[in-house]
Amino acid sequence: MIFILADDDDSQWAHEISASHGWPIVSQKGNKEAFYLKKAKDGLCVDYKDLKGVGFDFSKKYFKLEGSVFAKAIGKGSKKILDATAGLLKDSHKMLLLGHEVTAFEIQPLVYELSKSAISVATKSIDSFSGLNLVFGNSLEVNDTDADVIYIDPMFHHVNKSALPKKDMQLFRKINESFTVDSSTESQFIEWAKGLGIPRVVVKRPIKQPKDKLVAHSFTGKSVRYDLYTNN
Ligand SMILES: C[S@@+](CC[C@H](N)C(=O)[O-])C[C@H]1O[C@@H](n2cnc3c(N)ncnc32)[C@H](O)[C@@H]1O
Repeated sequence: MIFILADDDDSQWAHEISASHGWPIVSQKGNKEAFYLKKAKDGLCVDYKDLKGVGFDFSKKYFKLEGSVFAKAIGKGSKKILDATAGLLKDSHKMLLLGHEVTAFEIQPLVYELSKSAISVATKSIDSFSGLNLVFGNSLEVNDTDADVIYIDPMFHHVNKSALPKKDMQLFRKINESFTVDSSTESQFIEWAKGLGIPRVVVKRPIKQPKDKLVAHSFTGKSVRYDLYTNN
């Protein structure tokens, strides 16, 4: 269950979000299993069990993106990217830093609201965010696009690290474990992308996932691999 935690005198944002997603507005917490969306100094955040005041942000610094496996997979000549699985927008952020324009789709409403809020905070200080268009909805319903590349990251990569992931990632996982969205399988994404006739489709996968024989080329990193499908 998702609630919006807000006071009556500061509630325009709460009413807007409540109207969009049907989440009730409450002034106090009362349900131990619920996600509470609230406003903090740096945008929207969530209280969920022992995770308190956790939001998404773009504070992570990426070094050496130029020439990286990720950059090669996206392709230097590419301009417009359709990110079909936005999530926390970490991959979209890298695409923006590499100079691409990105339209990113997110189907999970709480993830969408947290990412949207993080963008509006980031836009104030990071120029590259003007190249990002985040859309709430199912990317598989897109039937026309002028993108050069479709990027798909359907998986939840629980890479076995001993350290606990950062709070935003912990929250992201909890959201995805708690709600069933009308999510899509890898093969549905690939069929859809093929149907759009886009020349370059990139699918991020765990490095150990068996190879698909339709993949034209793989760009292999330390823990993930980017499989390229071409549509010529
Ligand atoms: C593994 S995460 C993507 C993480 C993302 N690449 C990042 O860097 O933060 C997959 C995301 O895709 C979303 N998703 C799954 N199916 C979708 C669909 N058909 N349309 C839009 N978003 C979808 C899920 O809700 C989830 O947030």
